[in-house]
Amino acid sequence: MITQVKAPGKLYLAGEYAITLPGQASIIFAVNRYMTVIIADVDETKPVITIDSDKLGQKLIHLDQLDQQTLDDTWNLTTKTLQVMSLWLAEHQQTLTSLSIKLASDLDQDGKKIGLGSSAATVVALIKGIAHHYQLSLSRLELFKLSAITLSSLDSFKAGSMGDVAAASFESLIFYSRFDNQWLETELSKSNCQLSALIATDWPKLDIHDIAFPSNWRLVVGWTGQPADTQQLLTINAKVARIYKERLGSKTTPLIKRLEKNIQQADYISFRTNLRLNQQALVKFADFMHINYVTPKLRELLSSAYRRGIAAKISGAGNGDNGLAIVQNEATEMALKKAWQARDIIPLQLEIATPET
Ligand code: PMV
Ligand code: MG
Repeated sequence: MITQVKAPGKLYLAGEYAITLPGQASIIFAVNRYMTVIIADVDETKPVITIDSDKLGQKLIHLDQLDQQTLDDTWNLTTKTLQVMSLWLAEHQQTLTSLSIKLASDLDQDGKKIGLGSSAATVVALIKGIAHHYQLSLSRLELFKLSAITLSSLDSFKAGSMGDVAAASFESLIFYSRFDNQWLETELSKSNCQLSALIATDWPKLDIHDIAFPSNWRLVVGWTGQPADTQQLLTINAKVARIYKERLGSKTTPLIKRLEKNIQQADYISFRTNLRLNQQALVKFADFMHINYVTPKLRELLSSAYRRGIAAKISGAGNGDNGLAIVQNEATEMALKKAWQARDIIPLQLEIATPET
């Protein structure tokens, strides 16, 4: 049997940094660029999984050694996902069998990372693929929870908000409020922890729901050509970060709720104002934290939009990657793209994703 699934990349619209704290809010787009996973049964006397990645090459894991695999190499995401899925399958009286797994990414540009969240998409696609392959169903929320459990178990990813995982699981424009990670850690450390029970319960402070995007609004994305490392930015001044993030969140979480209403009501003027207020709060936060958030190209990306009365914002952690704008007609979109191109900012052909049926 062959199973093929995909999970999309993402772009943050609003709420960054504060969203790494429990209960804070954000709005995130899933975009129509994907991580694809193809899983096939193979005949092997000794159960083995072969993973072929277009980015990382090939890895072979003997299933009797899956639990002993170390998590200190570039394969840590796939290894951890397989470990989690092996436990989850066992709870459903199934076991991982010999498989060939192919991972193909459409989330870069000319081999360069463009900040669309390939780590989250890899985990989500792999979990979705394995569940399908063993004919077990997962709702979008359960898919999110299993993926968030996987990433929360990896030191290099647990500082993130998991908003990228929420967007990849829901495949749409979403409102996302971060779950309580301390609570999850306690649950996972319990000796009688059952993953299937854990993903069936309500998680404190977690809220993910779709937002309908106005049919006449258009998403325009500009890539600055400079890759940024979000995980590294999250470790800067980690001790003082919490205080500043709380201060940021108390300003931005009410703004995010207003932004959601503005989108629902297609109220462009209020949307533009509230998005700019979120941007200003983030710039102030980054100043306090000594984070190089607004790079020269991101500043130009914003000013070319603001000058034309267009709603725009840096997307994500800043320090490179992308910015985005929302426009209401094609002529404005073309004018903005031209202005960006003149400044060496590359417009990406991205649209909001719609869930796979
Ligand atoms: O740069 P991106 O698109 O990975 O977004 C990062 C958003 C942060 O809030 C800074 C981090 C996170 O995990 O939410
Ligand atoms: Mg980024």
